[in-house]
Amino acid sequence: MRPHIPHLDTETMDWTSPIPGLYSKILSVDPDNGARTAINRLVPSEGYSAPTVPHYHHSAEEILVLGGKLSFDSKTYLGARGYCFHPPETVHGFKSDVPEETTFLSRHSKKMCTHDVPEPAKREYYPLKGKTPDRMWAALPDATKDGWQDNVKILGEDSLGEGSKLMRLDGDTVNLSVPDVFYEEIFVLDGRLPAADGTTFVKGAYAFCPPGSTRPSFVSAKKALVYVNYGPV
Ligand SMILES: [Fe+2]
Repeated sequence: MRPHIPHLDTETMDWTSPIPGLYSKILSVDPDNGARTAINRLVPSEGYSAPTVPHYHHSAEEILVLGGKLSFDSKTYLGARGYCFHPPETVHGFKSDVPEETTFLSRHSKKMCTHDVPEPAKREYYPLKGKTPDRMWAALPDATKDGWQDNVKILGEDSLGEGSKLMRLDGDTVNLSVPDVFYEEIFVLDGRLPAADGTTFVKGAYAFCPPGSTRPSFVSAKKALVYVNYGPV
């Protein structure tokens, strides 16, 4: 399980740059299985080029675009607030394109390894083993459009209850509705969320709370848009 991170201001973190045009901020890592959440920034004008060969991962891959745009097939472009989910062993990236500087939140469910598929069986998402994944793939140009119910938009969930959602929060009552026995991961996309301990979560604030740990106790919210990932151990 990842360690408890009560509050992280990701906007002031330094970038690391493993290769020209690719920048990363690692927000949290699970020491047991290598699962991690990061912010990545791709800068084509500095030499970044999108992969040209389709691939899959053994981890589930989730991306939420913070700015810019990218595509895994050069048809569906994920702009700001765009979202995609690639289940484990699902082939994707048939014609990737990053036409401009793009920043995104990136989540892998275990240590990321990338396996190229130079000759894919199809030119659209498909599971390597032919089995329908527990949680289906998704690619949304703008995840904030449509599908809201009581200011909650479920982005996806698996049969064990692990999933992710967007929440619009505004007012004096803030409840992220994540069971205490689940872990809770938060990333603030917009707005302000003052907490009872004096901390205020603003754009770029991040927290990871293992099951049973103390959660941020938000006393109110002002036009907040929050990404929440959650699940059993
Ligand atoms: Fe990928």
